[in-house]
Amino acid sequence: MEHNPTSDIQKRKAIYGVGGYNAAMKKALEHMTTVGDAIHHGAELFEAAGLYFGHGTDNAWDESLSLVLYALSLPWNVEASVQSRQLTEAEQSVIAALFERRIDERVPAAYLTGEAWFAGVPFYVDQRVLVPRSPIAELVESEFTPWLPDAPQTILDLCTGSGCIGIACALYLPEAHVTLSDISTDALAVASQNIARYELEERVETLESDLFSSLQQQRFDLIVSNPPYVDAEDLADMPAEYHHEPEIGLASGLDGLDFTRRLLSEAPDHLTEQGVLIVEVGNSWVALEEAYPEVPFLWLEFERGGHGVFLLTAQQLRDCRTMFGAV
Ligand SMILES: C[S@@+](CC[C@H](N)C(=O)[O-])C[C@H]1O[C@@H](n2cnc3c(N)ncnc32)[C@H](O)[C@@H]1O
Repeated sequence: MEHNPTSDIQKRKAIYGVGGYNAAMKKALEHMTTVGDAIHHGAELFEAAGLYFGHGTDNAWDESLSLVLYALSLPWNVEASVQSRQLTEAEQSVIAALFERRIDERVPAAYLTGEAWFAGVPFYVDQRVLVPRSPIAELVESEFTPWLPDAPQTILDLCTGSGCIGIACALYLPEAHVTLSDISTDALAVASQNIARYELEERVETLESDLFSSLQQQRFDLIVSNPPYVDAEDLADMPAEYHHEPEIGLASGLDGLDFTRRLLSEAPDHLTEQGVLIVEVGNSWVALEEAYPEVPFLWLEFERGGHGVFLLTAQQLRDCRTMFGAV
């Protein structure tokens, strides 16, 4: 599944006509005299180029804003009055170069800026990890109320990627000890960088593990996971932006459930008596319900959007154990 920038440029030329894109970009740059102009023209160019948004922002304006603020080293909460500030020529060139990479190569803005926000917290990201965007952020922000019997003392963030879920858990639940596990050493290097950023070394550790294989007998009050769950059909249809993300973080077999099947059968051995398992399976929730019609998945709802996140208690997993072995 190679990303092909040449084909993106051809598509772009098809949209603008040969040379039309350059003219549109040149025109935009000529009119980019203030910060506000730059944000405005970036959003226009992104819309016109038919970019996909969904890696940290969901619209052209926010995507442009994030690149402009990054280029100017300005924080997210800068005063709106900054929009009237004049840009220097050097600043214009930096912004133009970012816009061009976003359009020509379809690189998600988070990879260009090296930062993505999750549960109100900024995380370092690069192409070794998925851009954080799980709706599980909402559960973390509410400290998993009302879904857990007590505040969890031990948490496993399985398939941690950048570490966003587990590190946010540690920040919202200051009593918790958190293990961040992933099969990818590259991802764990990014997660370690984020642990250091928040000085959480005493409560948060990383573990290289294929699912539970390195965990031996360890049990947790909460296992939370955003694993790979994209099915073959969705994978083939994904916009170019997704092809900058590690495929190991997305693909999970024909029906998207290869990983989740293993997880369900092994999770009971790694939960405490009152433990809880929370897993995102996105669009694969339909296939999961079909595969295990008897399992009482509790599908959680989200105020800010997102779907396909289920909860099962340790007791429910134990009760259903024979079904997981059977499929
Ligand atoms: C969807 S990404 C999620 C990253 C992060 N939790 C987030 O929400 O942004 C899935 C992660 O699962 C990891 N992974 C894939 N197969 C795995 C396996 N067999 N065992 C452990 N981790 C695995 C990938 O390396 C990737 O970092």
